[in-house]
Amino acid sequence: MVIAEPVMQLPRHVAIIMDGNGRWAKRRGLPRIEGHRRGADTVREIVRSSREIGLKALTLYAFSSQNWSRPMAEVHTLMELLRDYLVNERTEILENNIRLTTIGDESRLPDFVHGPLNELKTASAGNTGMILCLALSYGGREAIVDAAKRLAEQVQSGSMRLQDVNLLSFSEALATSMLPELDMVIRTSGEERLSNFLLWESAYAELYFTETLWPEFTRAELQAALQSFQGRERRFGLTSEQVRLRATK
Ligand code: FPP
Repeated sequence: MVIAEPVMQLPRHVAIIMDGNGRWAKRRGLPRIEGHRRGADTVREIVRSSREIGLKALTLYAFSSQNWSRPMAEVHTLMELLRDYLVNERTEILENNIRLTTIGDESRLPDFVHGPLNELKTASAGNTGMILCLALSYGGREAIVDAAKRLAEQVQSGSMRLQDVNLLSFSEALATSMLPELDMVIRTSGEERLSNFLLWESAYAELYFTETLWPEFTRAELQAALQSFQGRERRFGLTSEQVRLRATK
């Protein structure tokens, strides 16, 4: 007899604000960079788990536009960790059919990151198992301004009409247009804000906050977040009754 597995309603696209590396280190009397190092191990674990669980896309807030203002040594270590991640995880990413993409102002990244980043983006471009999107030198407001400029240029050049600037064309002008609709944002470390992350895209995303610091975030915690997603009713502005009616159609 075949027992049907319960069908879990998975979010297609999950984004994570990986917060709490510094506090994790401080609590142990370690330098902040040790927290980032452990945080990079968590990235490995969570990317692997997300792929195994079957997410279609995972976006990680690895470095914000504002993070450039951190002490120079910390910025440098974060860039080194990023490079090490790209180099060391190359095989794992390719073997697991993961496509690597990025959002953010890549031009500000150092050359030693550009090389392995572009190489892996190209090598993984045809992969279809899951999209891993790293937000690097990324800011949500900056991304909205970029999209507005892109559309304004098209209108100015005559290749687009002003009346065709709408929710759809705006979404398509954003760098995230290659990703599925954002279903869920997770933030670790007990802070409950978006901090300039995916501001447009999170309009109808479910938010999940946990006290756990990022270096201690595990596959089990990810599963708890997904479980919580399952229990939520997403109404997109409709009433509960309308949502239920649509589900039965
Ligand atoms: C926030 O914690 C975390 C960051 C600014 C960087 C996140 C980077 C990593 C997890 C490691 C490198 C990334 C990859 C993709 C390999 P915080 O420093 O603000 O922590 P705090 O709020 O406790 O000080």
